[in-house]
Amino acid sequence: MKNSSEKKLKILTIIGARPQFIKAAAVSRLLRDEADEIILHTGQHYDENLSKVFFDELDIPTPQYNLGVGSGTHGVQTGEMLAKIEAVLIDTQPDWVIVYGDTNSTLAGALAAAKLHIKVAHIEAGLRSYNRLMPEEINRVLTDHISDFLFCPSNVAVENLANEGITEKVVIVGDVMANSLSYAAEKAEKQSGILEILGLEPGQYYLATVHRAENTDDPLRLENILDALTSLDKKVVFPIHPRTKQAVENYRFQGYLSAPNIELIDPLGYLDMVRLEASARKILTDSGGIQKEAYWLHVPCVTLRDETEWVETVQSGWNVLAGGNKETILEKVLHFKVPENHPEFYGDGKAARKIIDCLVQYPAC
Ligand code: UD1
Ligand code: UDP
Repeated sequence: MKNSSEKKLKILTIIGARPQFIKAAAVSRLLRDEADEIILHTGQHYDENLSKVFFDELDIPTPQYNLGVGSGTHGVQTGEMLAKIEAVLIDTQPDWVIVYGDTNSTLAGALAAAKLHIKVAHIEAGLRSYNRLMPEEINRVLTDHISDFLFCPSNVAVENLANEGITEKVVIVGDVMANSLSYAAEKAEKQSGILEILGLEPGQYYLATVHRAENTDDPLRLENILDALTSLDKKVVFPIHPRTKQAVENYRFQGYLSAPNIELIDPLGYLDMVRLEASARKILTDSGGIQKEAYWLHVPCVTLRDETEWVETVQSGWNVLAGGNKETILEKVLHFKVPENHPEFYGDGKAARKIIDCLVQYPAC
């Protein structure tokens, strides 16, 4: 902590999409005591159940800036963010900008700051899928290469950065999502009534989420995935992302969603989601955050992708890649068994604390 006579750091936190609210909650809770934190919401996610609910449940202060950028093509969305973030940066002159993960909000925030010579801290740095067709991969690579502090969740992330020649100010801190999960897990157990509302017995349902462009924008893959969900032996709870809902309507796949075993629901708040995850028999997902949450909650995960950035979860045997083929998905969900061993990955649960200490001590850290 800084001496009280010293000026506090001014930090601008840039967030815009669901997983970023969850990640930032953990850091912001500690940061606001030790720095002047300004929160900027790009407006990338704007539906109440993709945005406001997380601010309420995770006690995140109302952003001082909401840019209201909304949806659009990558160029339009990122470009509008860039121009608007730049204006806020010129106005506020922060010591640091913090960006999270790999969305268009991440890249726009990092790029706007770097061009103004404002220092950028990237939280969840160094992740790679090595698939440049993913918009997230482009966002991660570019953000890492223009960041001044790179906070990595794992050794693999540090190695990925070293392979690209990035070795300065790379710090392994663990994963801030673990902080958010432990904050929410107990609350979820006490406050969420989602199992009762949906009439679910622990261990007797699957939980599924799908939102990645590689699945939603490819009708063949999306149909295979939906078909697999309808062919499973238990109820499938499916909180549908608006992107996926739109794709289902566009391709006229609604029939799959009215199958008797599909419990189609709107996106959930974090507490309900964590409670559903914790009691699921298995989780089927293409989400990055949910793969890790499944791991931390000791729930087997079937990942609906061809590769993952969270390679440790697969190497440990708790996560399996099933891609987007119906038969492979069914085979994995029905027959995949996890080992008894469950090594801890992604730090000691103190990632948020370590990040703040590094920023406060910079350049000594
Ligand atoms: C974005 C991120 C992705 C992240 C995901 C988390 C990028 C390139 N992608 O994907 O990495 O995993 O968020 O959920 O940044 N929509 C709504 N309401 C909203 C927001 C979006 O209806 O509040 C619909 C719109 O039709 C929009 C579509 O969802 O076009 C996609 O939204 P967008 O933010 O572009 O990307 P996501 O798929 O959410
Ligand atoms: N999540 C949620 N409600 C939902 C779906 C997801 O609270 O209906 C949470 C989930 O628990 C995780 C995060 O959102 O913490 C993951 O976000 P998402 O899957 O949208 O993005 P990704 O992690 O793939 O970038």
